[in-house]
Amino acid sequence: MRIGVPRESVPGENRVGLVPESVTRLKKAGVDVRVQRGAGTPANYPDEAYAAAGAELVDTMEAALSDADVVVKVQRPSLAECDLLRNGAILISLLPVASSAEIIARLSSRGVTALALEKVPRITRAQSMDILSSQATIAGYKAVLIGASHSCKLMPMLTTAAGNIPPAKAFVIGAGVAGLMAIATARRLGAQVSGFDVRAAAREQVLSLGATFVGPEPSTDAEAAGGYARAQTEEERAKTMEALAQHLKDQDLVVTTAQIPGKPAPRLITAAMVATMKPGAVIVDLAAETGGNCEGTVAGEVVQHHGVQIVGAVNLPSTIPFHASVMFSKNVLTLLQHLIKDGAITINLEDEITGPMCLTHAGQSRT
Ligand code: NAI
Repeated sequence: MRIGVPRESVPGENRVGLVPESVTRLKKAGVDVRVQRGAGTPANYPDEAYAAAGAELVDTMEAALSDADVVVKVQRPSLAECDLLRNGAILISLLPVASSAEIIARLSSRGVTALALEKVPRITRAQSMDILSSQATIAGYKAVLIGASHSCKLMPMLTTAAGNIPPAKAFVIGAGVAGLMAIATARRLGAQVSGFDVRAAAREQVLSLGATFVGPEPSTDAEAAGGYARAQTEEERAKTMEALAQHLKDQDLVVTTAQIPGKPAPRLITAAMVATMKPGAVIVDLAAETGGNCEGTVAGEVVQHHGVQIVGAVNLPSTIPFHASVMFSKNVLTLLQHLIKDGAITINLEDEITGPMCLTHAGQSRT
């Protein structure tokens, strides 16, 4: 069996699907790995490290993909890349269903089995394959660093001969995987941190990280399947907005991470709220790619409103590509170990992990 690892072609994507350490593990299990030269270079994994791990290096994308039994990559393939996959090949990559209709149709028509990494079910058995969690951890960390670097203030409290500096106030909205990491990172930087989420479980987690919890008491039924939040009712939303409006006025750094699976991100900070914030405050909107939690967010840009900088953060894991790739690759390796039985890969659509991930199989679309 052979796995192909191409160089990522989406501009700005610096991660790689498999790191050399995972190649070593696969080789030990009797699996061959073919890597396109330069695939790991943006993440600082040189070709030599892949060669030392036992990978075969090839010059072109075509050579990496065309006779691979399994292709591992980070971003969904382009249509041209789909056309390089052989009939019966298995593709393992991110593959957002809502925006990938044409690609999914092409993969299906080519007889490719496509496993979408966003669809790893949120069950204990699959936790070590959960790419959304591993990459959100990195995004939460980086969001705080970006916010601190855009801020006109120091984060920690300082007592110096040149005067005393109070700690900056950081507020994290949405205390899921990214939000909890943002809270921990802001605490490590010395900020005075608060958090908010609609899920009751998140309240305890915010408090356990030493932050204060702000906003209305979360309702016990706010959690939907897989630990995700459900959309709020109008009444709940009004209460949330009122509490946030008061708290935001006094914040120096705000990180927003609120998401509802399959829906646009909830709008939690209005332009009117931004107008009441202190000049120099920074908002880092991690939901920028799904419409933004903040009115005025522009994905991929930093904009100013009333002296407040709003950072529309996009693909932050790719900005820490070495470790983002380690975690991505470990998630994929665990998935491969789940799929490989006696040296061959099996797709069991009844399996509780493989089934939900499989978007195309045997010429059929399953979306
Ligand atoms: P996510 O990225 O979908 O959402 C981020 C956060 O936004 C969530 O905590 C959500 O409750 C919050 N949110 C949604 N609407 C909001 C609103 N109107 N106001 C404030 N916050 C709002 O979710 P994420 O971070 O990927 O995971 C959420 C939870 O799922 C985790 O904290 C965990 O409990 C659970 N989970 C379970 C796993 C497993 O069992 N294998 C793996 C990963 C997460």
